[in-house]
Parts: sequence; C-alpha cells; structure tokens
Amino acid sequence: MEPILVIFVLVSTFLFSAFFLLHLWISPKAVEEIPGTLGWPIVGESFSFISEFSSPSGIYSFMKKRQERYGKVFKSFVLGRFTVFMTGREASKILLTGKDGMVSLNLFYTGQQVLGPTSLLQTTGEAHKRLRRLIAEPLSVDGLKKYFHFINALAIETLDHWPGRKVFVLEEASTFTLKVIGNMIMSLEPAGEEQEKFRSNFKIISSSFASLPFKIPGTAFHNGIKARDRMYAMLDSIIAMRRTGKSFQQDFLESLIMKHTKGGNEEEDGDKLTDKQLKDNILTLLVAGHDTTTAALTWLIKFLDENPGVLEQLREEHRQIQSKRTEGANLTWSEVNNMPYTNKVISETLRRATILPWFSRKAAQDFEIDGCKIKKGWSINLDVVSIHHDPEVFPDPYRFSPSRFDEPIKSYSFLGFGSGPRMCPGINLAKLEICVFIHHLITRYKWRPMEKDDSVQPTLVRMPKNKYPIIVEPL
Ligand code: HEM
Repeated sequence: MEPILVIFVLVSTFLFSAFFLLHLWISPKAVEEIPGTLGWPIVGESFSFISEFSSPSGIYSFMKKRQERYGKVFKSFVLGRFTVFMTGREASKILLTGKDGMVSLNLFYTGQQVLGPTSLLQTTGEAHKRLRRLIAEPLSVDGLKKYFHFINALAIETLDHWPGRKVFVLEEASTFTLKVIGNMIMSLEPAGEEQEKFRSNFKIISSSFASLPFKIPGTAFHNGIKARDRMYAMLDSIIAMRRTGKSFQQDFLESLIMKHTKGGNEEEDGDKLTDKQLKDNILTLLVAGHDTTTAALTWLIKFLDENPGVLEQLREEHRQIQSKRTEGANLTWSEVNNMPYTNKVISETLRRATILPWFSRKAAQDFEIDGCKIKKGWSINLDVVSIHHDPEVFPDPYRFSPSRFDEPIKSYSFLGFGSGPRMCPGINLAKLEICVFIHHLITRYKWRPMEKDDSVQPTLVRMPKNKYPIIVEPL
C-alpha cells in the first residue's frame, strides 16, 4: 500500500474511533442520576482503571475509592464503555438470577471474536440452557470418575519433580491443569508433539482474550485468532478420525460426538450440535477452566504457607485418610469425595483471593437495582471482592479461616463459583483436581516461599504476579 494511503487509513481510523467513543461518552441521559464521574472526554477513567488494575491489590482499589466517595452503586466510563459498578447481596441476586433474559454476559470484543458466536458464554435463554444441559453430564461427579486415575497419576508425577529446585507454583499448576483438561476433552497424552502444539496455541489464545481490538498482524488479537484456527484444525482432524471409527476414546469429545452432533435427520437433530458449536464450546471450556483452576491451586498453596494452623488441620484430615488405607495403597475415588475440611479450605481460598473479581453483564432491558435505574445496553460490573469481604457476613474478613464454612453461608454472599443460571459448570472438575493435588503435596512435602510479594497480575483472573516461587523438601 502507498504510504500516503496508510496514513490516510490510520488517521481516519483514529478520528472514527475518537468520534465513536465521544458519542458513547455523552449519549446516556439517565446516567446523570447515578453517582460517580465519567472522567475525561473519550478516555473516561480508563487510565486510572488500567493503573489500579496493575497495582498490588488489583481492581479492588479502583472500586474501593469510588465506593467510599459515591456509595455502593457508581458510574464510570472505562475502556470505551459506559459502565455501572455495583456491589451487595441485593445487586448480586438480581444480576445473577437475571430473570427473563434481563442481562447477558458481557465479554470483551476480542474474547467474543476468539470464542465464536455459538460459545456458551455468548448464548442466552433457551440456547444457553440447552448447551448447559449437554455439558452437565460429562462434568458431573459421576461423569468425572473415569478421569480420576489420570489426574491422580499426573499429580504424583508432577510433584515427583518438585524437591531440590526453585518451583514456580503458578507455572506448575498451569501445566498440570492444562494436561488434565486436554486429556479429559480429547484424550491428549500428557507429553509429546501434540501436547506441545496444544499448549502453545492455548497460551496464545489465552493472552489474546482481553487484548486491544486491533486485528493487525503481530498484535495479540491477530495471533489469538490464528492460534484459534490452528486449534480448530486440530479438533477437526480428531473429530474426523472419530467419525470414521479409526479412533475411539472415552472422553468428553467422544460423548458429545456420539450423543450430540447433527446427523442429517431433522427430527432427531433438534437438540444436537454442529461441528462449529462443538468446537466453540470445547474452546470455551478450555478458556474458562484453565486460568481459574490454575489460580485457585496457586493461591491455596500460598494461603496454606501463610496459615500454619490451617495447614496442620488440613494435613490431619489427609493423614486420617492415609491411615485407613492398607500400606502402599493409592488415593481412591471414594476418599477424594470425602474431604470435608479440604472443601472448606477451597471455599475460603476462593473467598479471600476472589479469582474473578467482578462479574460483567449487559442489560438486555431497562430495570432497577437498589433504586438505581439501569437502561438497556449498559454494562454492569458486580464487584465480588467487596461481597466476599463484607464484615457482616464474614467477620474479620481478611483472616483466612476455613471454619467460616462450617455453617451454610447467606445466599448470594459467597460467589466463588458464581450463582444462578451461569454458575460454574466446572465446579466438580476444579475441586477434583485441587483435592487430588493437595493430598499428595501436603502428605509428602513441606515448602517455603522464596520471596514475599502480594502483588497480583493485571489479568482478568487474579493470580500472584511473581508466580509464587517456593523451595520444597520431603516431610
Ligand atoms: C477453581 C476453579 C474455577 C473457578 C473459581 C471458577 C469460577 C467461575 C465463576 C465465578 C463463574 C461465573 C461467572 C459469572 O457469573 O460471570 C464461572 C463460569 C463458568 N465456568 Fe468456571 N470456574 C472454575 C473452573 C472451571 C472449570 C474447570 C471449567 C470447565 C471445565 C469452568 C467452566 C466455566 C464456564 C463454561 C462458565 C460459564 C457458564 C455460563 O455462562 O453458563 N470453570 N466459573
């Protein structure tokens, strides 16, 4: 392209974006009634949002400052969107129950493009319910039983390599959870060329998810789309092999292909998936399940070191389990499903770390929350960190105390796995992976962190910025 043409295209794109953002910034009329400020023309409060996002306490400090100034509900204009931030049980109940299609999930533009239009995250109403039904069985406790041996063997093998070196827990947890989900979904072997391809494509997709929306060669977004296409080509060839009967596996993909892919018979096909829907939703499970489980496992290990009393009580639960086994026997499926204190430690980890610090929704109609009028099309962010640290529900909220979960918690106060129709469908898998991994870790090793740093990464899923480096020794 001629240089003059390139300059013309760039200047026009800039002007168009500026006018578009200015239009968004000034248009909502009802906005004046909501406390808060929209910040500067065009950019709004995006700069302070981004800088707080990267601060040690993450997005929480952006919200806290404004909550102190304006109350539980306030407006802002960030990243090109007019947004209402809100918190509290009432808001959480209304937004998460989302009756009559009142709200839909609000993904970043790049995330929408990478995941595809038929992803569970982008469907609403009946289509959403149908997809949830299809994935419910393979992700149920019974459906997961067949992956237990793989997960158990992989946890042992991963931990065999931990003593005597600097271990970045976040990296190890990431590799572990990716191998689990790769095996579960498409029987991918934990090592080898296919695993490497899968891993490198997944990493590129993952980092494109909330990137800037410029699809120009070299950008994270462009790379993400390319990696997604490579991942889909990989899935296409696996699906083709399964269809011709050349390969048969008892995995998630097989169960969807056997029971749920369209075969040409209109009547029977009513409730089934096309290949595109199949691929979009497999990618959705990978994206939604990987960083979250990685972060949860890492935070849990960090909290255990910082709370020796909790670690001791947890170890006691796992020693009891071991003591009832015959010498040399391995962890069993029934043992892993009977770890009450471990489950409370997981819940407390999700409360304290609040891995997904806000849930984002888009209003599909006008409605009212806490006396605040919300208009169709607005973005609404539910601040979950404040809900998880409400001293009326969680006394001394910054203390790590799993025994809070001895009694049932008030509804809509604990949202570690969300609530309502969009509650996490991967909850059983996440708990299974964590229980197995923690069992082997705490019955074999003790560890100490190599540095003290509580900063979090500026990513959608909150993770320790330093990847939590530790040194491990046998007990
Ligand atoms: C400890 C690990 C995990 C945590 C903390 C977690 C947390 C959550 C939360 C809070 C939501 C609701 C978000 C909202 O309402 O906006 C959610 C949704 C979701 N999660 Fe998880 N998750 C975890 C693991 C997994 C796994 C392993 C999978 C898949 C295998 C998964 C798949 C999904 C999907 C597909 C959704 C969207 C559901 C929908 O829109 O209907 N998650 N998760």
